[in-house]
Amino acid sequence: MPGTCVVGLQWGDEAKGKIVDLLTDRHDFVVRYNGGANAGHTVVANGKTFKFSLLPTGVLRPEIRSVIANGVVVDPAGFKKEVATLRAAGVSVGDNLLLSDHAHVIFDYHKEEERLSEGGANKIGTTGRGIGPCYQDKVGRTCGIRVSELLYPDHLRQRLRAIVELKNRLLRALAPGSGEAKTYDPDVLCDEYLKLGEELRPHVTDTQRLLTQALREGKRLLFEAAQGSLLDVDHGSYPYVTSSNSSVAGVWSGSGVPARQIERIIGVVKAYGTRVGEGPFPTELTDGENGIGHQIREAGKEYGTVTGRPRRCGWFDAVAARYTTTLAGADELAVMLLDVLDQFDEVKVCTAYERDGERIDWFPSDAFLLEPCKPVYETLPGWGKDVSGARKLTDLPANARRYVDRLGELLGVRVSVISVGPDRAQTIVS
Ligand code: IMP
Repeated sequence: MPGTCVVGLQWGDEAKGKIVDLLTDRHDFVVRYNGGANAGHTVVANGKTFKFSLLPTGVLRPEIRSVIANGVVVDPAGFKKEVATLRAAGVSVGDNLLLSDHAHVIFDYHKEEERLSEGGANKIGTTGRGIGPCYQDKVGRTCGIRVSELLYPDHLRQRLRAIVELKNRLLRALAPGSGEAKTYDPDVLCDEYLKLGEELRPHVTDTQRLLTQALREGKRLLFEAAQGSLLDVDHGSYPYVTSSNSSVAGVWSGSGVPARQIERIIGVVKAYGTRVGEGPFPTELTDGENGIGHQIREAGKEYGTVTGRPRRCGWFDAVAARYTTTLAGADELAVMLLDVLDQFDEVKVCTAYERDGERIDWFPSDAFLLEPCKPVYETLPGWGKDVSGARKLTDLPANARRYVDRLGELLGVRVSVISVGPDRAQTIVS
């Protein structure tokens, strides 16, 4: 089985990192193909908690090769910092970590552009990491800079002189009052990024060639999606999405590995729903300080890994997840954080929407069409027992099994993993 992809089927934060971590030792490469330091992957291993934003979770295992592929946007200072943090924790990071020379570079002006654009009515509620502006430059072509360019001083200086001039004009225009925009000196910026480029140099390679060669040698690749499919720029709840293909659709373009090499697709969902940032979320529970939404947030520690923002919480939306299951072509489902629902007498699942008096069972992926959708719920009995100690299906209370089975049924896919806590051991594989 050459390629496996682990992909989130909701609005991100589905605990994909844990599934990737569990599968890593059955693979030779772990590959990130989209996004940047906007992602937050938490892995608990041997009692230690590791948080990743940019690096693939595979870096915890030095015998595995971890790849940041061409579809990722890279903040070199963030890269350096994450590597340093891991080394300080005793994790060896060297030539096991590879970075695509084709990946695009996030510059400080991208973050400034985002900060100034996010002020107004068009706010997306981004993570502020410069992701959108960097992808804009990639697709716009004239201002995009790739990792390989950081390794050629004269070339980089020449490009930055032209680009920074444009960027400074743009930033001044975006600033609401004169003097409020940060502007840049191209030579200072160039010196800074050349230095960072030297830090990246030992890791930089043509990862498309590396991965296709690995496939020829019979190596197994594990693709790790960042964010969730509902945040996919083409297929998510546009425009309240991220700027990359965070669904399985991104694997081919984001890594250069042909889609047909992906033989196993594991869709990951939480047992409930969350969302960070702006945009419609039909099953959101806005029931106040002591409400169910709040209880889910506290039990699930639903605060952003990257930004610390409280996540919006709600019941499981089977209409949205059925859509992304189909989009992914998922063969199996991992249901995460089931233990968070232990406390409730009953649990709800959204099985359809009502919009303008009409019942619909499909997901409108335009935010303005999703906004008026009201959830139609099916109510199931709760289980009222702590499931965090369950290690096999038969350890689960009957109602907890019934709930998980129902999710699989609604999504039309087999549930192969149930997670009942953050530790590697707190996992039921069926
Ligand atoms: P950006 O990716 O920073 O541009 O943010 C765009 C949208 O995606 C915002 O609503 C963010 O909150 C959301 N987002 C980005 N990365 C993640 C993630 O890893 N988990 C959940 N939401 C995310």
